[in-house]
Formats: sequence, structure tokens, C-alpha cells
Amino acid sequence: MENFTELLKRRRSIRKFTSEKISEDQVVELMKAALMSPSSKRSTPWEFVLVDDLEKLEKLAVCKERGAGLIAKAPLAIVILANPLSSDVWIEDVSIAATLIQLQAESLGLGSCWVQVRERTDASGISAEENVREILDIPLQFQVSAIIAVGHKAEEKEPFDDDKLKWEKIHLNKFGGQE
Ligand SMILES: Cc1cc2nc3c(=O)[nH]c(=O)nc-3n(C[C@H](O)[C@H](O)[C@H](O)COP(=O)(O)O)c2cc1C
Repeated sequence: MENFTELLKRRRSIRKFTSEKISEDQVVELMKAALMSPSSKRSTPWEFVLVDDLEKLEKLAVCKERGAGLIAKAPLAIVILANPLSSDVWIEDVSIAATLIQLQAESLGLGSCWVQVRERTDASGISAEENVREILDIPLQFQVSAIIAVGHKAEEKEPFDDDKLKWEKIHLNKFGGQE
């Protein structure tokens, strides 16, 4: 997709995917977006674990109580980690990388959905981070932030409509300020 404004309008969370695999070239483009992300003081505190193994995808899908099930049917899950010792603002750093991955996915005609891991628990109260750590052998110095599920879209979502945006959230010169 050429036009960035159009890309922003079309990016929606996609939770249903076809069984078609993502090509190697597409995976490379997704990872380029991640690695080109800005990070505070160029600390690049993130690491990305690509998961396409069906058994592991199914395990990740139950890493937390709700909102992760879609991973089981995704051809690719990008697990986003960060080393908090590399950046005091690692949450911001990884969030930007996750967002750029999602935008790149849309620009490649793919669908994606963010699955939150940090601060989430499974049905028995075990931290989702611990579950993911065990499934993927993640060393202790890394925090698990989120998983971006990516695949070919099996559902269509309406693009954003300029007129329906929450313009009241925009303030001019002071909180509550209007033109
Ligand atoms: C920080 C964050 C955490 C999210 N966690 C989940 C999640 O765990 N599971 C899920 O299905 N969607 C998750 N989402 C997707 C949101 O539900 C989605 O962005 C929101 O409903 C708006 O829909 P849209 O992305 O189609 O505009 C998350 C999004 C963000 C930014």
C-alpha cells in the first residue's frame, strides 16, 4: 500500500487468519520494520522470537486466560521481549516496535493483532510472562511484553471514518481548549 494515511485508516485488529503461510520475504519485511524502530538513546532493548511451530503456537494461545486464543490459528507469532537493563523506557521502546510491525503487516496486505502478555495471568493466576518464558526458553533477564499474531486475513474490518474519530480528545493550547 502506497499511501500512509490510507494505511492508518485500514489497520484494524485481525483475529481470524487463513491457513496460508507467510512468505519468507514478508517475514523479512516485518523484521526490518522492527529493527528500524526508534528507541530511546538507540538502546534497542528488544528481541523478537518468531514462532511458526504449530505446537508452540497452541501453547502460546493459552498463555493467559483471555484474548490469546487467536494465536493458535495464526501462521506466525512475533514474541516481543526487552531487557529492562538496556533502557529505562523499554515499555515505550517495545510498544513502538510492535506498532510498526502491525503497520508493516497491513502494508503487506496481512492482518495482525496485538496480544498483551506483560501484566496478564492465566486461569490459575500464573503470570502469562512466566508461561511464555517456559514455552520459548527465554532467559530471565528479558521481560515478555506482547505477542503480535500475523497472517493472511480471514475477516474484513471497516476502515476508520474521519468523521467518527473522537475529536473531543484533542485540546488546543490548554486542556479543554477549543478553537
Ligand atoms: C496494549 C494493547 C494490548 C492489546 N491486547 C490484546 C489482547 O490481548 N488480545 C486481543 O485480542 N487484542 C488485544 N489488543 C487489540 C485491541 O483490542 C484493539 O486494538 C482495539 O480493540 C481497537 O481495535 P482496532 O485495533 O481494530 O482498531 C491490544 C491492543 C493494545 C494496543
